[in-house]
Amino acid sequence: MLETGLAGRVCLVTGAAKGIGLATARLLAAEGARLALVDSDGEGLAAADVADDALRITADLSSRPGVEDALAQTVARFGQLDVLIHCAGIYRVSKLPDVTDAEWDAVMDVNLRSSFLLAQGAVELMREHGDGRIVLFGSFAARTGGLRASAPYAASKAGVEGLTRHVAAYAGPLGIRINCLHPGFTETPMTEILSAEARAEAHSRTPLRRGAPPEEQATVAVVLASDLASFVHGATLDVNGGMYMA
Ligand SMILES: NC(=O)c1ccc[n+]([C@@H]2O[C@H](COP(=O)([O-])OP(=O)(O)OC[C@H]3O[C@@H](n4cnc5c(N)ncnc54)[C@H](O)[C@@H]3O)[C@@H](O)[C@H]2O)c1
Repeated sequence: MLETGLAGRVCLVTGAAKGIGLATARLLAAEGARLALVDSDGEGLAAADVADDALRITADLSSRPGVEDALAQTVARFGQLDVLIHCAGIYRVSKLPDVTDAEWDAVMDVNLRSSFLLAQGAVELMREHGDGRIVLFGSFAARTGGLRASAPYAASKAGVEGLTRHVAAYAGPLGIRINCLHPGFTETPMTEILSAEARAEAHSRTPLRRGAPPEEQATVAVVLASDLASFVHGATLDVNGGMYMA
């Protein structure tokens, strides 16, 4: 029998109000983890159908105060942090000439700065007990430039991949594992905004000829954070139905 070893672990999941983050929180709840759930959408988070005893934190993770607040509330409730799965992110579809400085900054702050701040803060907490697991979310757009995704989206997700390698080199000797997951096209509120034509194009460019339900990403993220992936470290995993094959 395969054991995840996640029962009783303190797991912080971001973007937990919907999509992949919510699916991840549900899987971790089923494993018996102790959950801190974070999202900037406080109403969505309150309404999320997941573990009643989870700590729900409304925070904007795009800057240091929000990240510090989320980490501090988690430690205040549970005393430590064992797992970080960072799903929160935003997506934009502007064409290259239309990308403004404001869009660049917003996307980089939510997708990349948050990943840096959370990883930095999580490592400091996890090193105290010499154990921890971190999963950051990139995107197939880091590999391909994206189908509709804007330049800052693709750049931010490529940045997450490099950040993962840097943190892996630093934190591995401290007993902390970190990996990056690059989802392919996934059926969540993030992609609901796309036209039927864009969705059909994404499906047709995926050899499995479909998008993933969020659970197919969440399952891999949870495995990466579990004892099952105990020697997987500094890796970038493509979960994309063959849309990009390295
Ligand atoms: N859905 C896809 O096809 C796809 C493909 C590749 C990568 N991804 C990545 O996977 C991750 C999860 O995507 P999803 O499809 O579940 O997205 P989603 O839009 O369905 O959910 C994202 C969640 O993040 C939250 N969030 C956004 N900005 C935030 C902030 N500043 N602070 C805190 N929370 C914030 C949102 O409120 C939302 O609940 C994202 O990083 C996304 O870029 C998704």
